[in-house]
Amino acid sequence: MKRLGVNIDHVATIRNARGGIHPNPLNIAKQAINFGADSITIHLREDRRHIKDNDLKKLSKTKIPLNLEIACNYKMMKIALKNNPKFVCLVPEKRKELTTEGGLNVVKYYRKLKFIVSKLNNKKIRTSLFINPTIKDIIYSKRINTNCIEIHTGKISNLIKMKKNYSKELKIIKKCAIYANTLGIEVHAGHGMDYKTTKVLSKINEIKEFNIGHYIIGEAISIGLKNVIKRINKFIKK
Ligand code: PXP
Repeated sequence: MKRLGVNIDHVATIRNARGGIHPNPLNIAKQAINFGADSITIHLREDRRHIKDNDLKKLSKTKIPLNLEIACNYKMMKIALKNNPKFVCLVPEKRKELTTEGGLNVVKYYRKLKFIVSKLNNKKIRTSLFINPTIKDIIYSKRINTNCIEIHTGKISNLIKMKKNYSKELKIIKKCAIYANTLGIEVHAGHGMDYKTTKVLSKINEIKEFNIGHYIIGEAISIGLKNVIKRINKFIKK
């Protein structure tokens, strides 16, 4: 069965806009799970622009399957090891970017990634690397010994939204998903997805998990979190 992870970073964005405690990411995380999400994703950015250390602390104490996204550095690794989430996804991070703009440079950071992944794996934390869909990055991911990869779906999402031809990018993602699967790496997808992108990508059997944030939280303003999760799950779990 394919799974849905709901990224609640932007619940924290709205909360932080007024510096108060509402809306509460912990409550929204619980609701998302009740409405059919399989896990909750949070990205603890180095500038703490949305999710804060206290959000992580509170979420880590619950039974909610938590996927913590962190930059590839030792400071963040220590925070992850201390809070012990069920899953960790390593992502590239640039201070000035609006969102995670691309996949990890697995060649440049090979040694560092391998070290961090081994530390997390030793603590039985499931590891994932957020990568661009290339065979080379998958080969490196295998060498790094990650349990999973998350394919950056930003490009195909943009093509679909702009009503452009996305068949070439879909083929590339499919090829990478099949290849990673044959190497024993679990494949996830994330970034920029909406209903249409989810529908398109859910046809790739090898993709087992979809991590979606901005669209779900945005759409929830209009039709409610329960309805968005129900609708998106119809594509994922058909
Ligand atoms: N997966 C990863 C690794 C991400 O960094 C992000 C963005 O924070 C997402 C999924 C969710 O992307 P979006 O908010 O565009 O759905």
